[in-house]
Amino acid sequence: MIYKAVVPGRVNLIGEHTDYNQGMVMPAAIDLYLTLICEPRAGRIITVFSENYDQEADFSLDDLVPINGDPGWVDYIRAVCWALENSGYPLTGASLNISSSIPVGSGLSSSAALEIAVAMSLAAACKYDLSPSEMAVLCQKGENSFVGVHSGIMDQYAVALARREAALLLDCRNLHYNYLPLVLDGFILLIIDSRVKRSLAVSAYNRRRAECEEAVRKMSGLLKKRISSLRDVTLDDIKEARHGLPDLLYRRARYVVEENLRVMEAAEALNSSDLHSFGYLMNRSHSGLRDLYEVSCPELDLIVDTASDCPGVLGARMTGAGFGGCAVALIEAEFAEKVSMAVKDAFRSNNWPVPIIYKTFAAQGACLEGI
Ligand code: GLA
Repeated sequence: MIYKAVVPGRVNLIGEHTDYNQGMVMPAAIDLYLTLICEPRAGRIITVFSENYDQEADFSLDDLVPINGDPGWVDYIRAVCWALENSGYPLTGASLNISSSIPVGSGLSSSAALEIAVAMSLAAACKYDLSPSEMAVLCQKGENSFVGVHSGIMDQYAVALARREAALLLDCRNLHYNYLPLVLDGFILLIIDSRVKRSLAVSAYNRRRAECEEAVRKMSGLLKKRISSLRDVTLDDIKEARHGLPDLLYRRARYVVEENLRVMEAAEALNSSDLHSFGYLMNRSHSGLRDLYEVSCPELDLIVDTASDCPGVLGARMTGAGFGGCAVALIEAEFAEKVSMAVKDAFRSNNWPVPIIYKTFAAQGACLEGI
């Protein structure tokens, strides 16, 4: 049997840099997809062909040695194979053909889409009955331990489990999730790619994670309660610990605690179809990412500021890891062209490359079929 996996990219609507702090996230899938055709065959060789790069590569399942940083696209495939094999799921050889409309390095989870597509199709080829959640966890393991990027669980969960016209509310502490209605009726999500590329594997992402861990260690000594992650910390705790914490760690921790609260408020807003409150929370989230967590950049700030000044825009924020990549705006559909023009003009005035803009909605998560 030949398998075809179709896996979307994702946009995170709110809850940024909270996943690795055991916090709350709220992503949705977008209608940009990676398609993988998997033809299983005997032996231990995996052959891969990327239509986007027009590149072919092959590797042996017996020769999977973790790399550390600077991954190429094939490393994400090797990482998934490594994670499956090391978790008790020996694989068979296969030839994989990949094509994708998800831009790479833009914060829309092109790598998580690739990972989930590989996991789904190879698991099916070997008749392993793995749930989407199990596959997400295995793919994250591959990304963390094979590729060396210490990313959280959000991206893999989002692309594996998202549903059409819904946002996924995921609690990254216990991996419980539920779906919130995101029927946009007259509104759209505008995704604006700043075209500033900054690979996730670079030190800045891992450094934020280390700073949060350091804040937890310091606060454990300052507060009279046990904390194992920033999820255990309240706003009152932050106030209490403020003077004992270096300012940088205080700002990082305060952002994460506030962002978790915003996600819960955003969930209430969606449940009561209150997109205006949702948009306001998006704006607050961006301010926190810019001022406290410091993962935005001038290009993303310009997108958010320009969009926020346009009529019909309910909210805008950077999305994903930051340091470049995309912003997302929730807008009245009829204003889409005007907002796009305004952002492009603002970039032209700065002599920056003009952003690439996608109109999207909450799309369906990963699916697999035998062909
Ligand atoms: C990247 C990571 C995610 C998450 C976001 C920031 O997309 O892969 O796990 O940490 O950054 O919210």
